[in-house]
Amino acid sequence: MWVRCPWHFPLVSRQPASDVSRMSESTQAQTPPENIVLIGFMGSGKSTIGRLVGRRLRFQFLDTDHLVADRARMTIPEIFEKHGEEYFRERETSVLSSLLGVKRHVFATGGGIVTLPRNFPLLRSLGLVVLLSADPEEIYRRVSRNADRPLLQVENPKERVLEMMAARRASYEEAAQFEVNTTTLRHDEVATIIINEARRVFGWPEPAKAR
Ligand code: S3P
Repeated sequence: MWVRCPWHFPLVSRQPASDVSRMSESTQAQTPPENIVLIGFMGSGKSTIGRLVGRRLRFQFLDTDHLVADRARMTIPEIFEKHGEEYFRERETSVLSSLLGVKRHVFATGGGIVTLPRNFPLLRSLGLVVLLSADPEEIYRRVSRNADRPLLQVENPKERVLEMMAARRASYEEAAQFEVNTTTLRHDEVATIIINEARRVFGWPEPAKAR
């Protein structure tokens, strides 16, 4: 587990979704909102852990993949098939941008959100960016359970997972402020580590101990 300097990227103020390209013009220093943003490779547990953290903090949970799919009225595989990855990435950035300004949320993001540097300041502006990681063997074991990930519908999905993880590693580290390696941890343990870090970063008081 490592910690990075908290607000390395300039935060961006809320912009209309159509105006993402102008974000950098309006960067400004501001206190980050009290949200938690989970990033990480497919199968790192973002949705499961995100839901759990949300329940424990009484924060609302949102998954950017679901928002992209809902807004497009198509499933993620359909979006990739009909419009391609670039279109999906545009929709993904648009969703991130539209979330700026919300509070008391936990977000799970798609595993490829870090493939575009334009998303980095948006992620930081949404809240504390936490990277969930796991060993490649464990990730492969988890993602091979379902077939709804278009980028893994290839002849040798294991090789693909290893290549993609290696190619994205530096971007995940750059985007994140805090990392939890989930390989051997239970979901509730991961959630506790994230909540403790959020408490430290946002200066939340310690919960009262039960007598
Ligand atoms: C992707 C990850 C998926 C989804 C899409 C692309 C990626 O999300 O956004 O299939 O490029 O890693 P999950 O990480 O939630 O599976």
